[in-house]
Amino acid sequence: MWIVPIAARRMLKGIAGCAACLMLAAAAMRAGGQTAPVEKTSTAQSAKQARQLDWWKNAVIYEIYPRSFQDTNGDGIGDLNGIAKRLDYLKALGVDAIWLTPVYPSPDVDFGYDISNYIDIDPQYGTLADFDRLVANAKKRNIRVIMDMVMNHTSDQHEWFIQSRSSRDNPYRDWYCWQDGKGQTATDKGQPPNNWQSLFGHSAWRWDQTTRQYYYHKFYVQQPDLNWHNPAVNDAFKQIIAFWLKRGVGGFRFDAITTLFEDPSLADEGVRLDKDGNPIINAYGDPQLDGSKTDNQPGVHEVMEEMRAEADKFTTGDFPGTRVLIGETYMPNIGELKKMYGTPDKPEFHLPMDTQVGMIDKLDVTEFRQRLIDAETHLSSHIPLLLFDNHDVRRIDARYGDGVHDVDIQRVMATILLASRGSALVYYGDEIGMKTTPPERKEDVKDPIGIIGWPTEKGRDGERTPMQWDANSKAGFTTGTPWLPVPPSAKTINVRAEKIDPDSLFAWYTALIRLKKTVPAFESGANMMLDPENTKVLSWMRQATGTPQVIVCVNFTANLEIVDLTLGEAGMRARELKTLLKTPGGPDTEAINRIVLGPYGVYIGEVQ
Ligand code: NOJ
Repeated sequence: MWIVPIAARRMLKGIAGCAACLMLAAAAMRAGGQTAPVEKTSTAQSAKQARQLDWWKNAVIYEIYPRSFQDTNGDGIGDLNGIAKRLDYLKALGVDAIWLTPVYPSPDVDFGYDISNYIDIDPQYGTLADFDRLVANAKKRNIRVIMDMVMNHTSDQHEWFIQSRSSRDNPYRDWYCWQDGKGQTATDKGQPPNNWQSLFGHSAWRWDQTTRQYYYHKFYVQQPDLNWHNPAVNDAFKQIIAFWLKRGVGGFRFDAITTLFEDPSLADEGVRLDKDGNPIINAYGDPQLDGSKTDNQPGVHEVMEEMRAEADKFTTGDFPGTRVLIGETYMPNIGELKKMYGTPDKPEFHLPMDTQVGMIDKLDVTEFRQRLIDAETHLSSHIPLLLFDNHDVRRIDARYGDGVHDVDIQRVMATILLASRGSALVYYGDEIGMKTTPPERKEDVKDPIGIIGWPTEKGRDGERTPMQWDANSKAGFTTGTPWLPVPPSAKTINVRAEKIDPDSLFAWYTALIRLKKTVPAFESGANMMLDPENTKVLSWMRQATGTPQVIVCVNFTANLEIVDLTLGEAGMRARELKTLLKTPGGPDTEAINRIVLGPYGVYIGEVQ
């Protein structure tokens, strides 16, 4: 049977208090003017440990799609040794952590998101020894390694599912979601239990002839959903998490977390209607459902409280410090996003992804301003995790570019990402302006949803192309045949070219990250929106007590714009500015009442 009561949950408290203790101890020593060398050392150590604990609060987390980052054995598929080879590059960029999309053994129907063994490395990416070496080498550069944790489903090749589907009385039967069909009889499989759909198209129920029941899969047929009402599933994942935490990972990004539970009533979901009352049809030709029974159901929060307690057991003041929990949280609004942080007594995610800001998909100043205000005021001072893209959505160029000013617009987005309060997810290749390059022919598509949904949905290959290291035909990614073609844009958009160009997008990202890490107002200062009626330029101030204010102005138009931040009720006092960063070749700005911005120009200045 699928539905069993949730087991009584333990309430474990984290050890977050330690950071404060260490800082208090450090402050006490400073106040006492201690000079003994041994105490000086321990003060420095305490401060360092406090920094290690807080590392995730102003962090740059770089997402790597390992298949596409760097190949070292010529098979055309990236590997762990390839990532290790590029650690100096990542260090120079200034990242604090790398998040690897899944590298566990997998039949690769969903390129790693269909896991057949959670405690090993897929041979195409390397070995556990390679993984340990990567973690150790990353540590030497102060970079943490974050794993992807897929708890909603496994591969149908995972031993648990092989057992589960083998007989109705197998001990693993109840680890997955099995149901009889509607109107099922001894000879007829009937209809799927309800109208629920896979996010990857068509019914979410698959008939399994061996035991004559349907199983539920929110994603591909080969990704059966685990039954999170079964406490054994929960226990298994705690052990998996501990396995990787013991290996020194810096945390996890929890995949598809809002789809862990389904409504036990198994009632149909509502169909979304257009303004004329007709069903909206999605890219797969199915009616669009409202997700009311399969998304964001109660239960997720309890699970995440427990996972957080587990991760907190491993958090120490030493590297990697806090073991951070990131959520794949496409929430409908800021209120729902806030819940993902949990409460002070029962914390959940440190950093649930804030897709409110990043997925606006149009260059609308008013909309961005409002979403950034929401992140500042509606999350109870939690740290927002901003992002603009990832391996599932088209890159920045395709969603915000105009085809003429793409690099300038990418600079604009990078500025919002890295000069706002919070932590940032940077998707590999965005720092050089890699372009979304979808396949042109159905027969070239690798991502199955691109085959199911062609041509409306071309799949996600376009944002997963090989990293562009140089201008060679294989972009320095491989010596073999790359698993996805190298985009033609690699001729000009590549690391080698951009590293030596002071005006490149890479130079912009590097400079922004340096500011984020060194300017006190950027390290911890609040975001305060300025010039609130302006529909062309987004301006904000970063302010931390006792340190100079910093203003950031971003022009969302292709025209020259001049901003006067002394105007209006909330206007600032007329002051000089010291330029910290501005768009290459941009006009000069020296005062707060006349900030001059070229097309899609950016200006960052310290108030004098
Ligand atoms: C979200 C992942 O980011 C995506 O790539 C994957 O296909 C689904 N979850 C299913 O695991």
